[in-house]
Amino acid sequence: MPIACATLPAGMSKRFYITTAIDYVNGQPHLGHAYEKVIADTIARARRSLGGEVFFLTGVDEHGQKVQQAALSEGKQPQEYCDELAAVWQAFARKLDLANDDFIRTTQQRHQRIVHALLSKLYQAGHIYKAVYKGFYSPKEETFLTERDRLPDGTFDPAYGEVIELAEENYYFRLREHQKWLIEYIESHAEFVMPEYRRNEVLGFLKTETLEDLCITRPVTRLRWGIPVPFDTNFVTYVWFDALTNYISIPAALGDPTVLSALPGVAEPGAPGLALWPADIHVIGKDIIKFHCVYWPIMLKAAGLPLPKQVLVHGWWQKDGQKMSKSLGNVVDPVAVIDEWGVDAFRYYVLRELDIGPDGNWTDASFVARYNTELANGLGNLLNRSLAMLKRYRGGLVPSQSAELAPEAERTMTRVRALLDQNKLQTALIEIWALVDRANQYVDQTAPFKLAKDPAQASRLDHVLYSLAETCRILAVLLWPFLPGTARKIYTQLGLEGEPNKFELARWGGLVPGHQIGEPVPLFPRKDKA
Ligand code: ME8
Ligand code: MG
Repeated sequence: MPIACATLPAGMSKRFYITTAIDYVNGQPHLGHAYEKVIADTIARARRSLGGEVFFLTGVDEHGQKVQQAALSEGKQPQEYCDELAAVWQAFARKLDLANDDFIRTTQQRHQRIVHALLSKLYQAGHIYKAVYKGFYSPKEETFLTERDRLPDGTFDPAYGEVIELAEENYYFRLREHQKWLIEYIESHAEFVMPEYRRNEVLGFLKTETLEDLCITRPVTRLRWGIPVPFDTNFVTYVWFDALTNYISIPAALGDPTVLSALPGVAEPGAPGLALWPADIHVIGKDIIKFHCVYWPIMLKAAGLPLPKQVLVHGWWQKDGQKMSKSLGNVVDPVAVIDEWGVDAFRYYVLRELDIGPDGNWTDASFVARYNTELANGLGNLLNRSLAMLKRYRGGLVPSQSAELAPEAERTMTRVRALLDQNKLQTALIEIWALVDRANQYVDQTAPFKLAKDPAQASRLDHVLYSLAETCRILAVLLWPFLPGTARKIYTQLGLEGEPNKFELARWGGLVPGHQIGEPVPLFPRKDKA
């Protein structure tokens, strides 16, 4: 089948399209969900800052047995139950200060229409067939298990709950015939799975195991809460087929020409016609790598669609060295952290503490330490004393230009730009803080409070005050993708209009002599926790 050609109509340019996993609507929004969304938001903002047109999609996954059961146990209709929870997740996105362009719910018509179109197309082309399956099944995880899933002692992992034997008819999606192609694709596309060790994991799996065809339905007798299969109303689609399709259903609904060339007629009436597909980055956690790096590429290829450019896989957070779980009572609640410390303190900690890839460990002690050292004493103190001195010694009027910290600032800017291009968020923050530390050291070395006492040093003091204020301004621009609220506050305190949301504003010399700054207010009030 030919792959849809992405020749775009004249005047239409493809946007940088970034997505997150869609969270199970019935779960509690926790640290892991928040982390992933903050990563995607920071990358999206960084690309916007660098001048790109971006579309950032996040949302919730609403179908499945667990949702059906949970709704029933609360005496609610599944849709009513999902509506309530979806509102919680949307509020969570606002709480995290996400600048997402859309929010998908898999119960939306605009999504179901694309799932139907995709299923019909794959069925007609012979990629889907019906068969009887007998096997072990975990109702809790909604998954069939094989002998290979048994633990050394013959039992199944307790995470699967009670495992039962089941024989039922279902529809299957052919995977096996694509295995060789997928191996070659991943081998020849080094950036398809990042970081590299995750890519090796996928290749290792593909080279040692034969792919089993994927069961993509459930009989309505067992599961009603799903998207009906268009060619057989006795079945609904299995959650993963439904969930993965979200990444193309919003582009299709918005009139993306590439998706529409493979699935004609599924755009919403009056769609703006945005060119989004293929996605530039799918941000996901390590537990769902097989779905995104094996099943999803094969679904797309079978549908005649190009593959996403990259699946960016992050690690998992633990709390105090242990898996977070309700039973252990050690789940980090991001909303509580944000209410106490502010959203940017949360965003800073997760992005600075954990690189995208390895697993991380949240401890309250390291959170408080980073807050006090890097945010309050580092950035907050730099801004506060720079502006307070400018007010006290120069009435808040920016003195004539100086370039004393310009080489350092320019170097940081160049490095951060390169790091943002590679989505190296943690290293970029380390670079930005090197400039914060350098500027704080500069205050100590130049001792403006002493210069202020000596009228002969007035011009020297001008140099210092300008260099500090200008460094703070540049920091606001560099920080905007990571800590948008803080960046905005720095701009406001500098008396500047607009948002520091364009990387090109990070050029040295933006502050104009004679400009009146605003009121200094502590960015991160120091908190010494007992
Ligand atoms: O898997 N640390 O939803 P989900 C870091 N609906 N990330 C974590 C984490 C942790 N402790 N716990 C979960 C699903 N995550 C499906 C996705 S996508 C088409 C469908 C991450 O709510 C997890 O890795 O269980 C995943 O990327 C995301 O949170 C949603 O998990
Ligand atoms: Mg999960």
